Amino acid sequence: MKKYLVIGNPIDHSLSPVLHNYWIKKGNINAVYDKKKLNKEDLGNIINQIKQNNIHGINITVPFKKDIIEFIDQLSPEAAATQSVNTVYLNEGQIIGHNTDIAGFELSLNKIKYDIKDKKIFILGAGGVVPSLIYALDRMKASSIIISNRTKEKALDLKKKFQNLKICNWGIIPDFDLVINATSVGLKSNDKLDLDFSNVNNKFFYDVIYNPEETDFLRKGKMLGNNTENGMMMFIYQAHQAFTIWHKTMPEINDEVLKILK
Ligand code: ATR
Repeated sequence: MKKYLVIGNPIDHSLSPVLHNYWIKKGNINAVYDKKKLNKEDLGNIINQIKQNNIHGINITVPFKKDIIEFIDQLSPEAAATQSVNTVYLNEGQIIGHNTDIAGFELSLNKIKYDIKDKKIFILGAGGVVPSLIYALDRMKASSIIISNRTKEKALDLKKKFQNLKICNWGIIPDFDLVINATSVGLKSNDKLDLDFSNVNNKFFYDVIYNPEETDFLRKGKMLGNNTENGMMMFIYQAHQAFTIWHKTMPEINDEVLKILK
């Protein structure tokens, strides 16, 4: 039986095992997918287990998407450009690191037919997922990307990698078509961003968070007359991409999938 894992710290909240095991069962695949909480010191050991064929693939979540890179033999272009790896496997003796968050984000927008081309984007946060968002938005030809982060230095660091980024101070709300919450604010149900969107309507509010289903950011966005989308489809599509790479078969995304993740 093949073994797959999602690793992170914390990891309890991860729905990846539910989704992967559902698709594994549907496809009659002889495999199992678990979650494992670990520390940075354990990353090398996990990779060794992939080399020895004890583990056949891993997903990486917060906070190890960058830390894992030193153990990877070959990065995909997306993983290299973002310095972020969420999917690992062995191919012809080489440890491959790939980033499926980028495609996950892109496909989630395609699904709802939101065209990024020539749109002005405003990103809140500068954490681990943000390089993947920027890479996807650039690929989809956004006209501008403005970043705001509570700790400005982290936004400035991102600008070293993505020179076309614009930075604005935390608290300022620039003109935009799409605003993305990529901060961790909203993960706890009483979390609220200290930002004032009261003059914004008829735009699009996207939250990378999918649990809870509706953050305060999305609730307020909706109340003000904006379209909203949470991170659930991004989550499903990044898993779909990883599953397809590992098992070389494309699982189905349907209502039942959404139901088991609720
Ligand atoms: P990491 O920074 O380790 O990659 P992350 O969960 O990916 O972790 O990112 C957390 C993001 O949420 C950061 O952009 C963080 O801002 P700081 O860089 O200033 O820490 C942001 N964040 C967390 N709590 C916040 C809060 N109360 N208000 C605004 N932003 C917050």
